[in-house]
Amino acid sequence: MSKKTSDGKARASASRITLMLALAVGLAAGVMSAVLLSQVQTGSGLATTSTGRALIGGPFSLVDATGKRVTEKDFVGRPLLVYFGFTNCPDVCPAGLQVIAAALDRLGDKAKEMTPIFITVDPERDTPEALGKYVASFHKGIVALSGTPDEIAAVTKAYRVYVKKIPDESRPGEYGVDHSAFMYLMSRSGEFVKHFPHDVDAGVLADEIAKAL
Ligand code: NI
Repeated sequence: MSKKTSDGKARASASRITLMLALAVGLAAGVMSAVLLSQVQTGSGLATTSTGRALIGGPFSLVDATGKRVTEKDFVGRPLLVYFGFTNCPDVCPAGLQVIAAALDRLGDKAKEMTPIFITVDPERDTPEALGKYVASFHKGIVALSGTPDEIAAVTKAYRVYVKKIPDESRPGEYGVDHSAFMYLMSRSGEFVKHFPHDVDAGVLADEIAKAL
């Protein structure tokens, strides 16, 4: 009887110790996991910042100057320089296209390893043919891409391009297109590398493209 009782007491105190140990371990584990969690949260905070850059660009489906449908998959493995504009643009687009043409000339044969692309922000007026002729007048190596208004809306959204039709007050029924005019350098794997203003120095642009080759 007494043995049983003492066994019972021993068992009771042993299980109390086990319980306390478990609580202590649990507490330590809780602290540990809190520390780990905060590290993970800090880490993911940094990750969000770095992927923020990668949020420029993405899949597209457009039409080239010959009427052929092209997607981002047609350019996989090649760095891209993507620029947006329209044929009726009075000054900014032509200036940017001249800079791209000059950079391509500086790159010489190296330019054949990448693809410069000009995408219209005015699909209603810039047919693939008209856009192709316009772009070729700056440089034969630049790929001209147009598409339906929905397709253009999707690609301008992907590249975060600001586009707004503005009625032309001097010519009733006509309009201009207000738009942001950055050139986007994309890596071989389709990730955003860097952007440039339309009036970037052609030498600087050529150097940055060369780095991506
Ligand atoms: Ni323009």
